[in-house]
Amino acid sequence: GGPQGAGPSASLDWAGLREAVAGCRLCALCETRRNAVFGVGDERAAWMVVGEAPGAEEDKVGEPFVGRAGHLLDAMLAAAGRSRREGVFIANVLKCRPPENRNPLPEEAVKCAPYLLRQIELVAPELILVVGKIAAQALLDTEASIASLRGRVHRLHAGGSDIPVVVTYHPAYLLRTPLDKAKAWADLRLACSLSA
Ligand code: URA
Repeated sequence: GGPQGAGPSASLDWAGLREAVAGCRLCALCETRRNAVFGVGDERAAWMVVGEAPGAEEDKVGEPFVGRAGHLLDAMLAAAGRSRREGVFIANVLKCRPPENRNPLPEEAVKCAPYLLRQIELVAPELILVVGKIAAQALLDTEASIASLRGRVHRLHAGGSDIPVVVTYHPAYLLRTPLDKAKAWADLRLACSLSA
């Protein structure tokens, strides 16, 4: 697993990248998706948020994090003085919804990774906030648990710089396990200390 380099996406600009994602047929998820979900937000944002994959709502609307978990993510971002229109770009590891929201297959993550890596290069954020185990493991190329990944600063080499990465719980998990919200707030504080 893990990012494999930007490959054929490496030289694309925003328009070319959007077009490539919209027409992507690199894996079988293109057969079942309604919409490829490119990402949303400020293309020059200081923060990027990286999630796992579109769910049913996102597949329908074509925008990441528009369901219940997305509302909690919006509240978390608001606490950091950001919103999906300003100060953040939100994208997923997978651009297309896996059937029944199953976890991404390794092959799907590998084929889709270049799109996210190119988005990271183009945004060139000061900070990446990764939500959830699946996204964290894919982006950081690790099998480590979320408990061991959160609460500290990782680095991702992209676009010629080392970008600080903070991992926290997925908002869908926090909806089921509200007692862990305190740890997520601490992770957000850590993120804000790296890029206010
Ligand atoms: N969960 C994610 O990880 N991403 C989305 O876009 C929606 C739900």
